[in-house]
Amino acid sequence: MTDVGRHPRIELMTLSEVEKVSGYIGNFRAQVRQKARYVFAKDCTSCDKCAEVCPVVLPDEYQQGFSSRKAVYKPYPQAVPSSYLIDMEHCLGNNPVACTKCVDACEKDCIDLNMEDKLISLDVGTIIVATGMEIYDPTPLDEYGYTSLENVVTSMEFERLICGSGPTGGHLVRPSDRRSPKRIGFIQCVGSRSENRGNPYCSNVCCMNTVKDTLLIKEHYPDAEIFVFYTDLRAFGKGFEDMLKRSKLAGVHYIRGFPGEVKQDSATGNLRVRVENTSSARIEDYDLDMLVLAVGLIPNPDLKKLASLLNLSQTSDGFVMESHPKLKPVDAPTPGIFFAGCIESPKDVKDSVTQAGAAAARASILLSAGSITSQAIKAVPDLTKCNSCGICARVCPYGAISIDLKAKNGVQVVAAACAGCGTCASECRFAAIIMEHFTDAQIKAQIRAALEEKPEEKVVAFLCNWCSYAGGDLAGVSRLRYPATTRFIRVMCSGRVSEDFVLTAFEQGAPVVLVSGCHINDCHYIDANRWTVRRMDKLWDKLEKFGIRPERLQLEWISSAEGGRFAEVMRVLEDLRSRVTPAEIEHTRRVLSENRAARETAMVPIEEQLAR
Ligand code: FES
Repeated sequence: MTDVGRHPRIELMTLSEVEKVSGYIGNFRAQVRQKARYVFAKDCTSCDKCAEVCPVVLPDEYQQGFSSRKAVYKPYPQAVPSSYLIDMEHCLGNNPVACTKCVDACEKDCIDLNMEDKLISLDVGTIIVATGMEIYDPTPLDEYGYTSLENVVTSMEFERLICGSGPTGGHLVRPSDRRSPKRIGFIQCVGSRSENRGNPYCSNVCCMNTVKDTLLIKEHYPDAEIFVFYTDLRAFGKGFEDMLKRSKLAGVHYIRGFPGEVKQDSATGNLRVRVENTSSARIEDYDLDMLVLAVGLIPNPDLKKLASLLNLSQTSDGFVMESHPKLKPVDAPTPGIFFAGCIESPKDVKDSVTQAGAAAARASILLSAGSITSQAIKAVPDLTKCNSCGICARVCPYGAISIDLKAKNGVQVVAAACAGCGTCASECRFAAIIMEHFTDAQIKAQIRAALEEKPEEKVVAFLCNWCSYAGGDLAGVSRLRYPATTRFIRVMCSGRVSEDFVLTAFEQGAPVVLVSGCHINDCHYIDANRWTVRRMDKLWDKLEKFGIRPERLQLEWISSAEGGRFAEVMRVLEDLRSRVTPAEIEHTRRVLSENRAARETAMVPIEEQLAR
């Protein structure tokens, strides 16, 4: 951090928050609020005189509340810049009765209680997001007694207790009586790997953090007895298995089983932990002096706000989704934005540093090239048809489309920002957007070709390139059997499947049509498949109005790893197809062709079209 602070080409903006980001790859503009520090960082020598006289005493967040700080404070000893700041929410200098003791005590005159936030605009070519993570709050897991028992602490709190720069100077004491604990327990997976007691994912770092802590305790307190309660121990990674072996050799007891109850002896503060030992199939009681909950990691709580600023998409676990899990693991779906660290998934320091290096390299490749080659598959507006309605701009997940509604001079697409999902083209009611390489004409030609012969025996399936189509590939290479009646039409995203494509397939005689894409929150074009859902909802209503069974149009989310599910869906569709009667198909063809003819002859007013 010190190196970063001193680097001539890195401007470190602490206490700053990004409020707005506009633009696109190579041309981002970020508006940053640099919050008032109330201390001139360059002049502050960290002499501590201000803090000595400050009358406000608050819990020290860095020390997990085990010690206190003042309203004027330095967040932690190695903070960069090495300067104090004022917590104005608690400072008395802001009250009607001003305190100003710190101002009087500062010999360098570097405190200004009237300092204001600054708004700074930055023009940048690429953005790396590394907002880190938070730890799981074990309060809801009542049985461990975190909120009621003083000697039950989280792994983060334990870190401070055992750290040389911690509140106890590295002497391990338990919070209730500051006595050195002799019997210490660790409960693994607190808030991790559980559907209903925290989060379903593995937090990656907790096992090895506990192993490291056990070795640290044994090094300083060889007589301490340590018990680790776990379900599985995950020690993958260089040197980790060896560390686990060393911990076992040092005499740490690893017990496979989860504690169900923690009780405290109110006189001594000692704990009794009841555990179902799954290795011995017995219920066992352990008397401990202190219990550490190895809590999992969760996404930064501010990530949602940041995701909407930067057009990032989040997976169901709340972390951000990468552009491609294997080929572009540090790229955001929005070109020019990269990730590093726990914003993408829980990871340890080594993996975070590796990813940060990769993100920096990816960003510098773009910056040193000076120009980029835009996607071949992109939206191109046809201004002769555009009515400046603005729908395309509203649905574009990347903000790549702009439109001046007042000037009515048509839509503009920033080619560098367009990722080619095709949602704009599908939503445009005037066919004023051409998706290069996936044009309406090309897709309709595929539909017609698929249904040229014996259409009543075919199922037309529109598959998104990244998930469903890859799921089909997996089904194929896994030699899974599914009916040969399905005809696949690949599109880049399910968002590209317009109402017109589906109705064309039915009009050409398809008994069943499938639209399939990535699971919600997994779409490779941020949230384009949410527009697919809305479109399908409208289409089901429309089919019902036409007297067509809505279930003949199916929407399924299939991921690239779900080859088995892909084959299963195809079997279900074939079953559905076999139950569609020739009379139904004939009725569908007739009403849809009549409707099409009526639409082509009648000039529908724009206002009415927009209102639909
Ligand atoms: Fe698969 Fe959008 S990329 S649904």
